[in-house]
Amino acid sequence: MTERLVYLSGELVPESEAKISIFDAAVNLGHCVTDSARTFRHSPFKLDQHIARLYDSLKVARINPGITQQDMLAATLDLLERNLKLYRAEDDCWIVHNVSAGMAPMGPSPVQSSKATIMIANQPLNLTGWQKYYHEGCHAVTPFSRQIPSQSLDARIKNRSRMFYTLAEQEVKIVDNDAQSVILDTDGFVAENKGGNVFLVKNGVVRTPTSINGLAGVTRQTTLEICDTLGISREETRLLPYDLYTADEVFFTSTPYCLMPATRFNGLPVGDGQVGPVSQAILKGWFDLTGVDVIAQADAQINS
Ligand SMILES: Cc1ncc(COP(=O)(O)O)c(C=O)c1O
Repeated sequence: MTERLVYLSGELVPESEAKISIFDAAVNLGHCVTDSARTFRHSPFKLDQHIARLYDSLKVARINPGITQQDMLAATLDLLERNLKLYRAEDDCWIVHNVSAGMAPMGPSPVQSSKATIMIANQPLNLTGWQKYYHEGCHAVTPFSRQIPSQSLDARIKNRSRMFYTLAEQEVKIVDNDAQSVILDTDGFVAENKGGNVFLVKNGVVRTPTSINGLAGVTRQTTLEICDTLGISREETRLLPYDLYTADEVFFTSTPYCLMPATRFNGLPVGDGQVGPVSQAILKGWFDLTGVDVIAQADAQINS
């Protein structure tokens, strides 16, 4: 086998041959939920939690996947095992699920009327786009687009309707190519990043918004658990831009990179403008938990 396989609605198909209809609900309606996990040393991390979140998203999005969580997990692990022989020992992989409501005929009703389209893929986890931020920090910037209110689309439904996240991220790139979005909700409170959760550190206390206006990130939860292990106080609370301006440290969390420090916020230095000790301690906590030094992994990819 020279090419990775993907799982497409019950079939294993070479990546280059995997195709869905242009009439699929994912394309026609954006009616598609998703989840992304990763491996550490080729072992999936908290995959059961990612799949449980996928099933919560499916339920609220009224998509019937037609297979059980156990079958989804088994298919994911089987695919990973088949493809792992094509991965370099030093690399890890993303594990991505996309599940749409299947064929979406044009007409008056968007209610699911066919089998779901289930797409499972794994791909090498390329950290090079984040590598320098582990060392220098990124520039956290608030875009002018606001988070869709959870009254309209609950942020806990991890879904593929990513237009507003994409626009928000493009807007901050107008300011700085090294910018990463800190999206505010329509009341001006900090919500999340287009693909991550936002944290700050002030006087030794780690703070992050609740999941009222942002995805309940698995990495966010693990980071809070690492804080508990390290004896760092932490709080889930509402945050305003003022809190980020006056923080000692700011960072993002997400599955691929674990923790990404931000050393500027809207053009001003965060604390002393360097990656701070609490961010470094939590990154070390990730290493202790997973056995993988993600900074070394990213550095090695840059140098290879
Ligand atoms: C909008 C959004 N927020 C937060 C996250 C972080 O979630 P997790 O830590 O589970 O990767 C993601 C992940 O892709 C995301 O898309």
